[in-house]
Amino acid sequence: MVSCKLLFLTTLIAAASAQNATNIRFMPFGDSITEIICWRAKLWEKLQATEWKSVDFVGSGKTENNCKDTKYDRDNEGHSGFLAIDIANKKQLDGWLKTNPADVITMHLGTNDIVQQSKATADIIKAFTTLVGTMRTSNPKTKIIVAQIIPIGIGSYNTKIQDLNKAIIPWAQGLNTTESPIWVVDQYTGFSSSSDLRDGVHPNDSGDTKMANIWYPAVVNAFSLVKTEKAAKRETAFVA
Ligand SMILES: *[C@@H]1O[C@H](CO)[C@@H](O)[C@H](O)[C@H]1NC(C)=O
Ligand SMILES: *[C@@H]1O[C@H](CO)[C@@H](O)[C@H](O)[C@H]1NC(C)=O
Ligand SMILES: *[C@@H]1O[C@H](CO)[C@@H](O)[C@H](O)[C@H]1NC(C)=O
Repeated sequence: MVSCKLLFLTTLIAAASAQNATNIRFMPFGDSITEIICWRAKLWEKLQATEWKSVDFVGSGKTENNCKDTKYDRDNEGHSGFLAIDIANKKQLDGWLKTNPADVITMHLGTNDIVQQSKATADIIKAFTTLVGTMRTSNPKTKIIVAQIIPIGIGSYNTKIQDLNKAIIPWAQGLNTTESPIWVVDQYTGFSSSSDLRDGVHPNDSGDTKMANIWYPAVVNAFSLVKTEKAAKRETAFVA
């Protein structure tokens, strides 16, 4: 009788949590192009019409960029001016993920490495490897979405940006696993360095819309994998 009730209860809990995305944690991670922009607001709004409307955006920051949206979940791990190489060397992501563990992470990084300090592509990629290692140490099942980064409208950095973007594909393939997949999304192609930026570096409304639209199918795909895994874990826990 007891086990029968337990089974019933567990099935109910599994069914309820499978339908509830509140316990899926999503960290938008990056530099100012993740912090002082409005693609996060647009992405959140796009999710409101879906079963993913209650996915929890997480991170230590809440910066708002006058997106004229009072409702969206502002939590994010965007750090203006930060280099991927510095974040990796200083092990900053380790602490950020300790405070805010995540199931799904989007990463848009490398712009400051290139623009501020002319870092070599290989060194940026090495930092990316460290960051992915940190994500997987924190949560071995992290679903990772890495951007080929947007072009910029100042200086002549886009050749180096394209070099980095090219290198991201084989790098991601090499680190890809079933448990913790890495998907690469192309934020460069179709993004105009003249009409999609407000200041030569950060997206304006049109750029934010483009970025949100590129992230959207990738995060939705990642959320559904996480949902399936969380539901399966609860059922397995009962059987065991
Ligand atoms: C989803 O889960 C959260 C936290 O457990 C709970 O507060 C919320 O009411 C649930 N929502 C639905 C629609 O079940
Ligand atoms: C990584 O593997 C997933 C399948 O698990 C696949 O969808 C994705 O495209 C792969 N990533 C890369 C960069 O090839
Ligand atoms: C975006 O900014 C560019 C350059 O400032 C401008 O030409 C364009 O009209 C802006 N577009 C939108 C939708 O804000």
